[in-house]
Amino acid sequence: MRTFPPGFLWGAATSGHQTEGNNINSDYWQREYAPDSTVPEASGDACDSFHRYPQDIALLAELGLNSYRFSVEWCRIEPERGQVSVAMLDHYRRMVDCCLQHGLRPMVTLHHFTVPRWMSALGGWRNPRAAELFARFTEIALPIVRDGVEWVCTINEPNVVACAEGAKDPDAEPVAYGMARPNGQVSAELVRAHRMSREVLAALPGVRSGWTVATQAIHALPGCADEAYAYSYPLEEYFLEAARDDDFVGVQAYTRTFVGRAGAVPPPAGAETTLTGWEYFPDALAIGVRQAWKVTGGVPVLVTENGIATADDSRRVDYVRDALAGLHQAITDGVEVPGYYHWSALDNYEWGSWTPTFGLIAVDRTTFRRTVKPSARWFGALARKNALP
Ligand code: BGC
Repeated sequence: MRTFPPGFLWGAATSGHQTEGNNINSDYWQREYAPDSTVPEASGDACDSFHRYPQDIALLAELGLNSYRFSVEWCRIEPERGQVSVAMLDHYRRMVDCCLQHGLRPMVTLHHFTVPRWMSALGGWRNPRAAELFARFTEIALPIVRDGVEWVCTINEPNVVACAEGAKDPDAEPVAYGMARPNGQVSAELVRAHRMSREVLAALPGVRSGWTVATQAIHALPGCADEAYAYSYPLEEYFLEAARDDDFVGVQAYTRTFVGRAGAVPPPAGAETTLTGWEYFPDALAIGVRQAWKVTGGVPVLVTENGIATADDSRRVDYVRDALAGLHQAITDGVEVPGYYHWSALDNYEWGSWTPTFGLIAVDRTTFRRTVKPSARWFGALARKNALP
């Protein structure tokens, strides 16, 4: 038995846009339904978690988990600039209370990829005052996390946000594999936004705040260490370094990326890949966790996402078991890890497609009926034991 530290958080994660449904005031919805949209599938009703969150939360608690990570939608709370919806603040506060009633410790993410349409019209993260707008939103959202919420993530995967912006740059280089180069101005604005948001959150002494970084377990091809570092630094280390003074840093790990002379290259021929096309590589988690610990100089590393897109649920169990074995070894070696959140609680909307199923719980797209998968029961049993057999 490999036992995890006392009080370890065993959770599952979701995001608002991917689960709530009808998030019509967000920039992503706007992209999904634009006449010239390049987004293959739309989110629509998603998992209808906007109405069904009590059931989702109850299921996670029944399984044996002790935490739930979810995000709030800025575009619902501040649908027009400066217009605050008290009803939506109440809605998200009810989600927090629902977690607490079920014995789940809520972890709240303030920004998970989407911004309000009005914010997007102002240039989104390219606006030089974007940080101020996000800090103001953080103030507005304080009542949601005021009591009973210990963990708050300001911005989910700022590095992916910066890459998404980089891909839109007129001089963006074509990317054969991996991610576009992050837009440096956006990266810097995200750091500023994160710092300002943390300052606002500091008004609540019970809150521990940080952000969550997508780590890619970057592997240099032979003779390409310099190229790998040049690829990695603006994508990962830059964002991890910015977390040095934070209460925690989140790591979100799924796969590894090989880097050669001309940038990222696909996984080796014959490698097992998942429904996202990523290489099956459970060690990505321990690599990301150790890297975050090293680069931040010892900031507690919370695993805020880890999982696999697969239709073969037994492969999910294999993946998580091996990822957790590596995580346990990192903890044994001295890395402080307060918890692990599986991505995802539900089979949800995977940013343009419904095919990659990451969930512990399946969701029928027309009836919204939830079906607990065997992997969920397996994972819940680990959580109850706080140990990996
Ligand atoms: C994101 C999630 C996404 C998951 C799988 C992360 O990049 O935070 O929104 O669904 O990985 O791609």
